[in-house]
Amino acid sequence: MTGDETPIGLRARRTGGLRGTARVPGDKSVSHRALIIGSLAVGETVVTGLLESRDVLDTARAMRAFGAQVDRCADDTWRVHGVGVGGFAEPDDVIDFGNSGTGARLVIGAAATQPVTATYTGDRSLRARPMGRVIEPMTVFGARCIARSGGRLPLTMSGAESPVPADYRSPHASAQVKSAVLLAGLNAPGITRCSEAIATRDHTERMLADFGAEVGVDTDDGRRTVFVRGQPELRARPVNVPSDPSSAAFPVCAALIAEGSDVTVPGVSRNPTRDGLYRTLLEMGADITFSNGSVAGGEPVADVRARFGALQGVVVPPERAPSMIDEYPVLAAVAACAEGATVMHGIGELRVKESDRIDAVARGLEANGVRIEEEANSLVVHGCGAGGVPGGGLAESRLDHRIAMSFLCLGLAARNAVAVDDCTMIGTSFPGFVSLMRELGAEIAEAGTGA
Ligand code: S3P
Repeated sequence: MTGDETPIGLRARRTGGLRGTARVPGDKSVSHRALIIGSLAVGETVVTGLLESRDVLDTARAMRAFGAQVDRCADDTWRVHGVGVGGFAEPDDVIDFGNSGTGARLVIGAAATQPVTATYTGDRSLRARPMGRVIEPMTVFGARCIARSGGRLPLTMSGAESPVPADYRSPHASAQVKSAVLLAGLNAPGITRCSEAIATRDHTERMLADFGAEVGVDTDDGRRTVFVRGQPELRARPVNVPSDPSSAAFPVCAALIAEGSDVTVPGVSRNPTRDGLYRTLLEMGADITFSNGSVAGGEPVADVRARFGALQGVVVPPERAPSMIDEYPVLAAVAACAEGATVMHGIGELRVKESDRIDAVARGLEANGVRIEEEANSLVVHGCGAGGVPGGGLAESRLDHRIAMSFLCLGLAARNAVAVDDCTMIGTSFPGFVSLMRELGAEIAEAGTGA
């Protein structure tokens, strides 16, 4: 993917309710980490339920470029034969992460304390995103980086020959930055620490501990400080990837706003660092229930059932943002169908995602007759009530999978169809999204086919 492919425009329109069971693919964050941490382990890591999306396949390619053996097997498992901590070989070509900020930032972290030089790039969206936030901590370990202006990709990094551990206070509420620091710390002698003001997703900590690293958390000074002892021998472990709560959010939210819907999504991760959307929806009065709680891949999971009903606008507190950072676009679609205003504070990080998501959501909602108020770090959506969104407009997806899926969901509840100019990027995180939604009863057709 270069971001320059022929765009595929789609249009979603209101039909009857969505009904049935929606099996959503594996968690993207856990999938990236399974490949990266498996590549740093000794032995064979067997991964079941890996998300086979473009972002994750780009990370698999990157791990092969550093010398790990990564294979998809006939039984649908993925098998990773790692090179051990510190065992990366020098890639013989540029590493292209496509659309994936997570892949890029985590792999840059893993490579920063290994004596290899590599050049990293990505698609048009990724090349516009800030990498300074990982370059800076990597230089603390002793890595040397040369990037394009503004700390953008492409960049070349020479990993530290004699790495030193870092004690890093992250200025960003970013699991990618924290994970890059922890992965870099793996090959530095001694203890590496990364502190964050608000807990972000903790998959890296969980998985490193499961693979035998000494990992801990300290919350003494009001911040959350994660530490890892460097140079462990990571032992290969099986990873069973749970369903992605960020992907589950789309059929769940569509069911909440499309009249007559009743949809169940099985086996969704309920990791408390990822469940902010579900807490918010319950506060809005959503008819959501959880059942069959169990554990998959070290993560709590449950089946989520969502039914259409009346919703109320709420104020989403800023400290909740990291636990639902990818879900604000689809929350905005739900908010448009609620009574009253939904206020989202502390969401400035959305401006540096695959697109400027505050702007993309705001313009798309306005184009579909929904009143919004936008500030640098916040968005207010004035709901039109159930069935009240006028629709009939075009939303620009701006190379952003979640913007595309959010507006298709909105179209299923709006009075007139909602068109999305380009849906090609959906495959970066949720291959099969359109067919899954159609199986539930959604009417989604190519724009221009008169649907
Ligand atoms: C991710 C962290 C989040 C999230 C991204 C996945 C991860 O990014 O938006 O989709 O897997 O660590 P930030 O760390 O930049 O908030």
